[in-house]
Amino acid sequence: MTQDARSTVYIETYGCQMNVSDSELMLGKLAAAGYSPVETPDEADVILLNTCAIRDHAEQRVIGRLGELKRAMKAGSVVGVAGCMAQRLGPELLTKARHVSLVIGPDGYRALPELVAKARDGERSVQTSFDMEEHYEDFAPRRFDKVKAWIPVQRGCDYRCTYCIVPYTRGAERSRKLDDVVREARQVVEEGISEITLLGQTVNSYHDGSADFAELLRAVGAVPGVRRLRFTSPHPNDFSDAVVDAMGEVEAVCEHVHLPMQSGSTSMLKRMLRRYSREEYLACVDRLRARVPGIGLTTDIIVGFPGETDAEFEETLSAVRAVGFDDAYTFKFSPREGTPATRMPAEWTVSDEVAAERLARLIEVVRAGAREKNLRLLGERREVLVEKPARRGELLQARSRDYKTVLIPGDESLLGQYLTVELTGTTGSTFTGTVVRARDPLPVAG
Ligand code: 5AD
Ligand code: SF4
Repeated sequence: MTQDARSTVYIETYGCQMNVSDSELMLGKLAAAGYSPVETPDEADVILLNTCAIRDHAEQRVIGRLGELKRAMKAGSVVGVAGCMAQRLGPELLTKARHVSLVIGPDGYRALPELVAKARDGERSVQTSFDMEEHYEDFAPRRFDKVKAWIPVQRGCDYRCTYCIVPYTRGAERSRKLDDVVREARQVVEEGISEITLLGQTVNSYHDGSADFAELLRAVGAVPGVRRLRFTSPHPNDFSDAVVDAMGEVEAVCEHVHLPMQSGSTSMLKRMLRRYSREEYLACVDRLRARVPGIGLTTDIIVGFPGETDAEFEETLSAVRAVGFDDAYTFKFSPREGTPATRMPAEWTVSDEVAAERLARLIEVVRAGAREKNLRLLGERREVLVEKPARRGELLQARSRDYKTVLIPGDESLLGQYLTVELTGTTGSTFTGTVVRARDPLPVAG
């Protein structure tokens, strides 16, 4: 069966925001080829899973989902696996899952319509070559979110953190041209969106041959209608003075940074090949705080990496306390085949029991610190952007510039609006708020 006028596609996304952005590009490409998006897999002619390979758990979820889809998919539809797990496993996925007919890595989406058409004609294919030139410039992304937009500015990664699969699944680092990013920012504003998040694996190492990340922040921040500018994820080593200055000076740049720490122990950081010490990380935090007062800080931390001693783990806890993060994503180390960490001495392995115990303690310390900070914020006012209906009751979910989630009363007519709220309650991590001022004050004439 080949494509007809009513062909439909369903895309499910796993992993990071870069994958969400890639799914938007894939959907745009397939829409241009005549496919309409649908909300559930059972009615779709084409089902795509855009996958993540960062931890074994992420891959197991996809394997489980593929099993479910095998039973749920309608006769005649095709299943494709895209993204990092597709890149990592390649043809192996075709033998593992007989109902998968297309495996396509992060640099292969240009061929999507053609490969999907082949799949629908019964031909199975694998496309996992890297393409250093590919930024999908001519694609028109179909954005899932109406309030904020992801804009990829860099693909791949040139760091070699010893735990990380990403350099192998997304290839070497390359940046889009500044002009292309600015053009997309203008389009986003035309679509009615005023908050932009620039994406890259180590986004602040952005360099397009002539402009660096500081210049990029200034250029996108100067696009009329861009009211909030964020970026994720930066590497601590790439916060040059120029970048930190731009953050302080460009009005649109929000007072929040997600700054992956991974560990608070210098010897651990060395084994992870993070290329900074505990002291250098803390110094980076100090520089950001000095230049951007009140900046919100979130982070990623791994426990149970090979060789982690009790003393090293305690250093992570003390660094968490010293920084006072607003939130942290915490992970148990998951060995990824082919990464340097898997070649470390077997006796360095941290047992799952110890790792689980450390993770629980770390979460406790993160929560306690965030709670203490958040309690102190009660009574303060924040400008928030209303993002979406909250899962709970009649409330809306809104976000402050410093990345606090605030639940407020109101109906869907407020989606996409900026409001001033007073923070009235906190669960310890999220807030409830009351609206102090709806919309912007009108400019005074004369
Ligand atoms: N095991 C556990 N966590 C990992 N991360 C990356 N690789 C691994 C791994 N092998 C975490 C890091 C990174 C985040 C996106 O995922 O903390 O910043
Ligand atoms: Fe997962 Fe990393 Fe790939 Fe994003 S880049 S999907 S986090 S493996």
